[in-house]
Amino acid sequence: MRERPTITIFGGTGDLTFRKLLPALYNRMLSGFAPEGQNIIIIGRRDYTDETYRERAREWVRKFARLPYRDETFDTFAESIHYFQMDFTDPTTYPLLESYLDAQGIKTCVFYFAVAPRFFGTITDGLFQIGHAHGSKVILEKPFGETLEDAHALNKRLEEVFTPENIYRIDHYLGKEMVRNIQTIRFTNPIFADAWDARHIDCIQISAMEDVGVETRGGYYDHSGAIRDMVQNHLFQILSILAMERPAAFTPEAMHTEQLKVLRALRLPDPENISDSMVLGQYAGYREEPNVSPESKTPTYAALKLFVDNERWKDMPFYIRTGKKLGRREMEVAVVFRTPSPEVPPAVLLIKFQPTEGVYLQFNIKRPGEFDEIMPATMDFCQSCSIANRINTPEAYERLLTACFHDERSWFSQWDQIETSWKFVDALEQAYGDRQPDSYMPDTVGPKESDELLAVAGHSWFVEPETKF
Ligand code: BG6
Repeated sequence: MRERPTITIFGGTGDLTFRKLLPALYNRMLSGFAPEGQNIIIIGRRDYTDETYRERAREWVRKFARLPYRDETFDTFAESIHYFQMDFTDPTTYPLLESYLDAQGIKTCVFYFAVAPRFFGTITDGLFQIGHAHGSKVILEKPFGETLEDAHALNKRLEEVFTPENIYRIDHYLGKEMVRNIQTIRFTNPIFADAWDARHIDCIQISAMEDVGVETRGGYYDHSGAIRDMVQNHLFQILSILAMERPAAFTPEAMHTEQLKVLRALRLPDPENISDSMVLGQYAGYREEPNVSPESKTPTYAALKLFVDNERWKDMPFYIRTGKKLGRREMEVAVVFRTPSPEVPPAVLLIKFQPTEGVYLQFNIKRPGEFDEIMPATMDFCQSCSIANRINTPEAYERLLTACFHDERSWFSQWDQIETSWKFVDALEQAYGDRQPDSYMPDTVGPKESDELLAVAGHSWFVEPETKF
C-alpha cells in the first residue's frame, strides 16, 4: 500500500503554523496542489484533540488564507489534520510518536521544524532514535543555529541523520513572486541585460521596510536583530540574484553556483571605519517590548553600503536597508542608472515586491512645449492590481511547500550560502562592537545616519514620486 504523503509540523501551536503554514496548506488544497490523501500531523505541547485543534485552525485559515474561506471546504481540509500532543524537548516522548506514526503506517514524511533553533538538535536526535528520519525530508526555519560554530555542528548532525539532499532550509523570500521575477526581468530584456553593470548603473538599492515592531517575537528577535533576521538571509539572496553572472543554464545548480560567487566576492568593510559602511538603529520604545532586555543593544534597523569585488560591479555600491516600525510596509529594489551629466535625472528601474507587485520605470523625455527642457516620465506596471493575478499568485509558503514535495531544491537556501553570509555578518558585527545603535522614532524612515551613508557618494534613497504622468 502506498504511504500517505504526510507533513509533520513541530511547533504546531505557534504563530508560524497558524499564520502561514496552515493557510498555505489550505490554499494548496484549493489550488489542486495538495497530494492525494495528504496527511497533516501537528505536534504541540498544548492539550488539544483533533477536533479542538481543527476548530482553532479554522479561525486562522479564515483570517489568513489567500483563497476564499468556505465552511465545507475547510471541513474537507480539516479531515487531513491530526494533533499529537508531546513535549518534543523530552527525549523519552519520542517512542510514543513512533507508535503513533507506525499505527498510521507512516515510515517517512516531511518534518517541518517550526520551532526556535535551539530545539532543532533535540528533535533531530529524537527522530533519529525512533528511525523515522531516514528517508524523510526536513524543512528548517531560520536562523540556522545561534552561532556559526553551532550552525556547523547542527548542519553536520542533520546531514548524518537526514542526508544532505533531504534538508530544506527555508528562506521564504525565495518563494515571493517578484523575487522569482528578477531573473526574468534582468535576463530576457536586452535593454536591461546589456546595461546591467557598473558602467551603466550608478547604484542598486534594496529596501525592506516594515511598519510593525517585534510584536510577540521579542525573545527571538532580541538575539537576532535586523542583520541576522533580514539581511543575512532574505536580502543577501536578493542581492546575489541581482548581481550574479548569467548562469550557464537556469538550473538550480547553475543559479546556486553564480549566487555563491557573489556572496564570496562581497568586500568586507574596513573594521576601523565601519560607520562608513553600516548604520544600525533601534526604534525608541524597543527596550520596553515584551521579552526584550531593558539594556538591549540589538538593532531593529540596518543600512549597509556593500561592494561586489568583480569586473562587472567594480566599485559600484549596493545599498541595503531594512527595519521595523518604519511607518510603512514596502519592499523594493531600485536600479539607478548613470546619467550623462549631473543636470539629467537618472533613469530608474524599480522592482516592487510588496505590498504592490510590479515594475516601474522612470526615464527622461523632453518637456512638452517650446523649450528643450528634460523631465522624467514614468511607466508603471502593476502586476498585483489585477484581481486575477492576485488570486492566481501563490504565497511564498505555498510555493515552498509544493517545491519541497517535488524535490525542487533551488527554492531553498544551500548550506554554503548560509555559511558564507554568516561569516560576512559575523565580521560586520564584530567590527561594530558593543556600541549602542542610533535611536530613531517609530513611524519615521529610520536613523538620519542612513541618508549620510549614501550622501557621501552623491546618492540618496530613491523615493517613487507621488504624482504620475
Ligand atoms: C521574517 C522575519 O523572516 O520575515 C520577520 O523573521 C519579518 O522579522 C518577516 O517581519 C518579513 O517577511 P515579509 O514576507 O512580511 O516581508
